[in-house]
Amino acid sequence: MKEKLEQIRSMAAEKLSAVDSLKGLEELRVELLGKKGALTQILKGMGSLSAEERPVIGQLANEVRGFIEGEMENKKNALLADEQARKLKEETIDVTMPGKVRQLGHRHPMTLVIDNIKDIFIGMGYEIAEGPEVEKAYYNFEALNIPKDHPARDEQDTFYVDGIGDFLLRTQTSSVQVRVMEKGKLPIKVVVPGRVYRSDEVDATHSPVFHQLEGLVVDKGITMGDLKGALAVFAKELFGENTKVRFRPHHFPFTEPSAEMDASCFACGGKGCRVCKDSGWIEVLGCGMVHPKVLEMSGIDSKVYSGFAFGMGLERVAMQKFGITDLRLLYENDVKFLKQF
Ligand code: DAH
Repeated sequence: MKEKLEQIRSMAAEKLSAVDSLKGLEELRVELLGKKGALTQILKGMGSLSAEERPVIGQLANEVRGFIEGEMENKKNALLADEQARKLKEETIDVTMPGKVRQLGHRHPMTLVIDNIKDIFIGMGYEIAEGPEVEKAYYNFEALNIPKDHPARDEQDTFYVDGIGDFLLRTQTSSVQVRVMEKGKLPIKVVVPGRVYRSDEVDATHSPVFHQLEGLVVDKGITMGDLKGALAVFAKELFGENTKVRFRPHHFPFTEPSAEMDASCFACGGKGCRVCKDSGWIEVLGCGMVHPKVLEMSGIDSKVYSGFAFGMGLERVAMQKFGITDLRLLYENDVKFLKQF
């Protein structure tokens, strides 16, 4: 029996060294130590031994079992380590392989211009206000002193919204002037960027959807001098330190007096070039002193308060600043075009 046990020990050692997988190791465990395993068979025969032999063989059998169990544990750890090493090797990343270049986008030229202009006014202490694009006709027209039969309504060919009463797609951000004034918080110093809609045919300078930025300042003692000062600073910030401005008389129903402001051409400095169509000036915005009727309609006492307002089309600013000659390019989302900004 002693020899048998020694035989099992050396057979186990031999087989263990040949095992190369966890599955093989488990099979070997069953073969050696399992219920029908070699060692168990031996132990079962212990009963036929003499009283002197029994403890000797018993001790040896335990030794052999301990040896096999220990070796199996070592083998198991070695196999697990091998497996880990193999995985690490197989799954390494070759950092010298060429990577996939990710195409990073950037802001749209319109967004660049809008953010730029917003920043300028924020720097001058203005707040940003917003209003709805689907607007009550009252805010878009009546409250701005444009009554039902006023010709300005025809000029702004308008998308009316059927079925929900007197609603339309706003034709101008001026509607938000009224909404801000109606809140009753004075003084007011806001700019309002946003989309506006007009039933215009698409061409190189027209789009049924475009952007405007509105400005409104209301306080005690606001004069045309405040308007000119603020807008002259704005023009310098937008087009450059040497920019000059001029104001031409104009008419808007919601301002009195009204004017249009031109800036000296940033491209040629006023000498005349393609950008300014040889005039030396570029048209920037409409402006004026808020009409007392407009203040009163919005609940502001025009004897105590006065204000100025201005409004500009932002596509035109973007086109001038970036030298874009066709407005449609801004809406076609051609990446080759957009990449240039
Ligand atoms: N709302 C005018 C337009 O769409 C632009 C405008 C002119 C706005 C004069 C103003 C302003 O606030 O004072 O043509």
